Amino acid sequence: MTPMSTDAVHALEAVAVEAERRWAIIVMLIIALLVAMMVFTGLHWASMPPSRVETIDPRGLHISGEFVEDNLGTTLGADGKVTVRLIAQQYSFEPQCLVVPAGMPVTFRATSTDAVHGFVVDKTNANVMLIPGFIATFTTRFDKAGERLMPCHEYCGTGHAAMWGRVQVMAAEEFLAKAKGGERMHCVPR
Ligand code: CUA
Repeated sequence: MTPMSTDAVHALEAVAVEAERRWAIIVMLIIALLVAMMVFTGLHWASMPPSRVETIDPRGLHISGEFVEDNLGTTLGADGKVTVRLIAQQYSFEPQCLVVPAGMPVTFRATSTDAVHGFVVDKTNANVMLIPGFIATFTTRFDKAGERLMPCHEYCGTGHAAMWGRVQVMAAEEFLAKAKGGERMHCVPR
């Protein structure tokens, strides 16, 4: 094999440099597009990354801490804030029926004891994944009184399709009258 002339080497190098420049421009355009999409969805749809991450040991949920059984359900705090606490487990939600007021901000705090479950309230933007070890929290508002379905929307095992609950959205006055006692509220038939 004869050695290449210096000119031929330079020509090849120019081809390589040109190809690298082209790909660098394409990659920068892709990154710019992705950043533009994040800015657009963040501003236009108000979709935000989680503001904080709260963790919890899923092994002791039923024994101590925020998610023990008698702390689950809906509470009206002294400050007037409505908080709903629930847990998901194969294959049910606890409580199976949630009570919330219409037209007031409602904060959900939920977690899972076992697999990854999905929490969604139909016809609303209440939609979150429940992951063992993490507390999912968000605040939303329900416009109309009535009953909503709350199916698990993340495949969590053979009983997934049968895992669902209900949400009773009450008129605010009715809710506030019932919540006066300060106890945990739910609508599970006894
Ligand atoms: Cu729980 Cu699917």
